[in-house]
Amino acid sequence: MGNKIGIIYFSGTGNTKFVAQNIAKKLQQWGEELDLINIEKDKIIPTQYKYLIIGGPIYIDRYPEILIKYAKDNLKNYKNKCMLFATQASEKDSTAYQHFINNMPNLNVTYCIYVPMPNNVYNFFFKRTEDEKQDEMITNVNDIIEASLKSFLDGETKLYPRNKFMVFMINLVYKMVYPMFIKSINKKINIDNDKCINCKLCEKSCPLGCIKIDKVASYTKDCLFCQRCINICPKNAFTYKNKELSQYKPRFKLK
Ligand SMILES: Cc1cc2nc3c(=O)[nH]c(=O)nc-3n(C[C@H](O)[C@H](O)[C@H](O)COP(=O)(O)O)c2cc1C
Ligand code: SF4
Ligand code: SF4
Repeated sequence: MGNKIGIIYFSGTGNTKFVAQNIAKKLQQWGEELDLINIEKDKIIPTQYKYLIIGGPIYIDRYPEILIKYAKDNLKNYKNKCMLFATQASEKDSTAYQHFINNMPNLNVTYCIYVPMPNNVYNFFFKRTEDEKQDEMITNVNDIIEASLKSFLDGETKLYPRNKFMVFMINLVYKMVYPMFIKSINKKINIDNDKCINCKLCEKSCPLGCIKIDKVASYTKDCLFCQRCINICPKNAFTYKNKELSQYKPRFKLK
């Protein structure tokens, strides 16, 4: 095994990328060598890393399928310690860690953290996070990650165990219901052709190539509902039930 730390992340709209970049900054300040690995474009050679830190947003109590698939494809034989982090609107832990561990039973996960971040899906679920609260969350990121990284590197353990079988069963139901739910919402999402400049940025930026714009917006069944296409549109051309959507604009800067 090598002596670098690998920070692996998926981020739909930037929150998780921001946290991953801050984790990287903190580790660099402590003199650690590391790689920041965006699962959408960066290759990984797991043997280069003494530890892995793996993060993503939470989508209805789950890590996105794209991140779980990445772990299954690339990290099955990784033996060293791993830390999971989740960015999420809620200030409570979720069953996402247990679900991830159920899928990766041989991965040596010793530490899990959740980092509350602004809700990016308020057009559809939950409320928009007030600006003041967003700023508070962004300011708190460094304290949360500093304390957690210290404990993780010191060998402490923090997990949020749940009944493995229950999580497995709930996931079966989730697998049937969630895609139908997203499909029914996506049917009501369209574009305002007076605004759309046909730049195709939404199509090009989709992590799974799920959206096509051809006067109307159409989605494939693999859509993660990550919100990137809607938020990246330079003309805010997306509509839901024929009403303009409010784009999530992070109140932090990404490098
Ligand atoms: C489809 C979807 C479902 C979500 N479900 C939850 C949830 O169950 N609990 C929660 O706390 N946040 C939830 N969120 C909010 C995101 O987890 C949060 O805003 C996250 O930081 C977004 O990260 P990103 O910008 O890296 O994609 C959801 C967001 C999306 C897009
Ligand atoms: S179509 Fe939009 S919401 Fe669905 S996965 Fe692609 S970028 Fe994300
Ligand atoms: S990003 Fe917006 S303007 Fe560009 S093609 Fe998509 S909907 Fe149209």
